[in-house]
Amino acid sequence: MENKKKLVILSGAGISAESGIKTFRDTGGLWENYDIHEVATFEAWQKNPKLVLDFYNARRHQVVAAEPNLAHHSLVALEKSFDVHIITQNIDDLHERAGSSNVLHLHGEILKSRSISNDSVTFPVDEDLYVGQLAPDGQQLRPHIVWFGEAVPAMDEAISIVRDCDILIIIGTSLNVYPAAGLAYACGEFTNKFIVDPSTVPLHEKGFIHYQGSAAKEVPTLVNYLLQNKA
Ligand code: APR
Repeated sequence: MENKKKLVILSGAGISAESGIKTFRDTGGLWENYDIHEVATFEAWQKNPKLVLDFYNARRHQVVAAEPNLAHHSLVALEKSFDVHIITQNIDDLHERAGSSNVLHLHGEILKSRSISNDSVTFPVDEDLYVGQLAPDGQQLRPHIVWFGEAVPAMDEAISIVRDCDILIIIGTSLNVYPAAGLAYACGEFTNKFIVDPSTVPLHEKGFIHYQGSAAKEVPTLVNYLLQNKA
């Protein structure tokens, strides 16, 4: 059997921008209109759970209405030739809906909820979450989201995935948020590294080849290159 090269994709909000889901830190991004400390921390949840739930209910509506774009779709073809692992900071399910089979969510998933006192069991969310809605353990349900200041439970697994990869592709992330951003530096010396982003991301000195442009345009180009060159 052919020994496939290990190819890891680290995606951020930029890959879903052309599906109509706002990024966080671009002009007009989500954090321009909302205060992180009011909606995306455990302290915010304690202070005003309704506001937090309303914020994430709105995020969920956007995700449900969105469709995967050419970037999500084109990555699926890589699975024919590579051992593909997608690590995403995104809480949407657009990689899965495009057909990618191996997706690790670092910052949670908007279509799931969990009890405030048990983060290991999740429940699908079909309708808006509300204050007073209880998990089977009798505790309030919260969105299955990693808030600022909280631990990132999938981080150890993500580091071990990146550490021995042959190819690393970073798509649409400003690499502002740690620990996730550290994955860009977690691969080995001989990994082939690519980044897709319309902006200049501070990785050019680290040996990354920059496909500068939007994900829907540049990811299919990069995928074709990789499929043809197997490298
Ligand atoms: N195609 C590709 N990249 C794009 C596009 C596009 N069409 N549009 C914007 N980008 C790029 C921007 O240039 C930027 O580098 O996407 C990146 C978006 O950066 P952020 O908004 O900071 O999003 P991200 O890096 O995913 O944020 C990380 O921060 O708020 C938290 O938990 C949230 O997971 C999120 C984390």
